[in-house]
Amino acid sequence: MSDIGDRKSHHLDLAQWAQVNGNEINKFFNYEPLLGSFPKSSIDLPPLKIHKSSLNAPLWVSSMTGGTGQAGPINKSLAKICGEFGLGLGLGSCRPLLESEEYFEDFNLRPLMGDKGVLFANFGVAQLEEELKRDELKKVFSLCERLHVDGFFIHINPLQEWYQPEGDRWYRSPLELIKDIQSLKPSHLALGVKEVGQGFGPESMRSLIELEPEVIEFGAFGGTNFSVLEELRTKKANKNEELTKTSELCFVGHTASEMVSNVNQILNDRGSNQTHTTFIISGGIRSFLEGHFLVENCEGQACYGMAKPFLEAASGGDEKVRRFVTRELEGLTMARAFLKAKALNQLPGRS
Ligand SMILES: Cc1cc2nc3c(=O)[nH]c(=O)nc-3n(C[C@H](O)[C@H](O)[C@H](O)COP(=O)(O)O)c2cc1C
Repeated sequence: MSDIGDRKSHHLDLAQWAQVNGNEINKFFNYEPLLGSFPKSSIDLPPLKIHKSSLNAPLWVSSMTGGTGQAGPINKSLAKICGEFGLGLGLGSCRPLLESEEYFEDFNLRPLMGDKGVLFANFGVAQLEEELKRDELKKVFSLCERLHVDGFFIHINPLQEWYQPEGDRWYRSPLELIKDIQSLKPSHLALGVKEVGQGFGPESMRSLIELEPEVIEFGAFGGTNFSVLEELRTKKANKNEELTKTSELCFVGHTASEMVSNVNQILNDRGSNQTHTTFIISGGIRSFLEGHFLVENCEGQACYGMAKPFLEAASGGDEKVRRFVTRELEGLTMARAFLKAKALNQLPGRS
């Protein structure tokens, strides 16, 4: 049979399996085939500036743990592919490096990433508070230099710390710490502030935007939840005996779409006083369509970020991460050409 004959016969065989019902994602987009044209290349995306560096595509690999042997190969695959595509990568908490050299190579990803892509270190609020008190912040900044990062995150995660048996505490508002760090850090290092899975409420977000850190990563509620994870760890350690802490606080937080609405409201209230902060919309984002919808709806400059989907891809090594990123970026290129995001407040069930 000819190629065309083959194809037509496949169509007849497969058509019964290719039926779709109303798709959830159609609630979020209008499909506009007459308004766009095919991009010149399969990946054709706008760069996004972050402080003194820039992403080639609006995709960020959210911070994941280092400091354990298992993390080394995962970090290395992610860094290599981020470098190839010019994406952003947040290191997991770099606390172990402030205490010992043992895991330095697991975090030393700039040589694998090369000059392309944006790399951020990551420290907890309690750790920085401690270093500041001891007048040792220079240790943190010189670690950033050794890692050749473009900036660093402060992660703010009181609920996770509370659920974690060996968790940290702090007794000053993190906003005060952020202000101190802003005044003390070297100007070439960008400062980012993030949550780890519960997001920030509107008043925290308003105060944070007022401080204009270079990056705010949502770490919103709705995906990986570290309070739940710490509970699971505790249960495992206690051999499933009853937990001493109530579970209810695991389930407070703000979803990524709620946070985009809040950011828009805050930016609108500021009027022409726009911000140079870049927003990383993360927490429960599982594909480029969700990311694209929220980025399009965000009035600040934004990209989307994911942790868990990258963790899954990285378990299959470099090639699996490369395929995953290619699919994301090709899909995003098509979405930008032919889909128009509906406004957040037009979604069914929202006023
Ligand atoms: C295995 C793992 C380790 C993580 N470690 C850190 C960390 O060290 N520091 C941090 O700020 N966030 C950490 N996170 C949180 C992520 O950066 C992200 O905010 C959160 O997982 C929500 O994204 P997701 O729903 O796409 O997974 C970690 C997430 C995962 C899955």
